[in-house]
Amino acid sequence: MIPAKVKIVEVGPRDGLQNEKEFVPTETKIELVNRLARAGIVNVEATSFVSPKWVPQMSDAAAVMAGIERRAGTIYSVLTPNIRGFEGALEAKADEIVIFGAASEAFSQKNINCSIAESVARFEPVAKAAKDAGMRLRGSISCALGCPYQGEVSVASVVDVVERMKALGCDEIDIADTIGVGTPKRTREVLAAASKVFPRERLSGHFHDTYGQAIGNIYAALLEGIEIFHASVAGLGGCPYAKGATGNVATEDVVYLMNGLGIETGIDLDQLVDIGDFISRAINKPSSSRAGRALFTKKRDGVAACA
Ligand code: HMG
Ligand code: MG
Repeated sequence: MIPAKVKIVEVGPRDGLQNEKEFVPTETKIELVNRLARAGIVNVEATSFVSPKWVPQMSDAAAVMAGIERRAGTIYSVLTPNIRGFEGALEAKADEIVIFGAASEAFSQKNINCSIAESVARFEPVAKAAKDAGMRLRGSISCALGCPYQGEVSVASVVDVVERMKALGCDEIDIADTIGVGTPKRTREVLAAASKVFPRERLSGHFHDTYGQAIGNIYAALLEGIEIFHASVAGLGGCPYAKGATGNVATEDVVYLMNGLGIETGIDLDQLVDIGDFISRAINKPSSSRAGRALFTKKRDGVAACA
């Protein structure tokens, strides 16, 4: 049954901006996070405590976390690949830490420089430390619907990583289509299989839109009863370790879809459209949100956009 309410996790400040070549000023990142939370986003992935050698754009993680306003009830998440990252997250008082592995060996090597098994071993102390500190723990599984290096990824290998993440104590697990190759049929198969080993209501769909399938995949995921979706405002992003992959599905498009389906998100679409315009101007790139562009044009010109 399709859920009546969903949680949208806004990943634009992290997944969206991490791939920008030009350094985005810390003040812009802070304003982005603050505006998103004010628009009703209850979970914002704010930044990453990763190696600045690997992802220079996230090198201001501590300053971003120190500068944002903390709205009561909003979860501010950060990525932490190792204990060093966890210490940064703890110091910054993040609400949730995200460990990130992959269902593909090849991608694991390229993204975090170790095998899947090594990554799980590296996450163990991080997961334990998060639990001891009373922080929420989320596990993200890249390449769940295909890999840029090895191609096909089996459903069994996704389920295997879901089980490993579950054993680490993850509160939520993301099924991520890193390069946006998935289609609705495969999405349903993977989510149905994952739901057999982990509670469906704590699984999320993280779809990139490279092949234009993300909204279709979200609808497919809704049919599987999934209630948590990741999106990035203006469709920001890509992945530094998945060349050619475009950004996440745009938050404006997802909220437009949910509004049309009568599914509650708690997000003000009008504000979101303005935020999409703000960040697109700030990084000097056109928004890739179809709904965002149409609604912005309609607001500005007072007529419906037709192209
Ligand atoms: P490594 O080079 O194997 O490890 O990197 P290392 O321990 O040798 O560290 C290298 C250098 O980084 C050292 O500095 C460390 O001190 C430093 P040096 O001694 O050479 O001066 N370092 C750190 N600095 C700050 N914070 C840290 C940290 N750790 C080490 N936490 C490592 C291994 C995991 C650190 C590296 O590969 C890394 O940081 N990778 C991050 C990759 C990344 O952020 N990818 C994008 C996010 S994942 C994603 O986008 C997918 C997702 O959206 C879902 C989907 O769509 O698929 C979540
Ligand atoms: Mg991603």
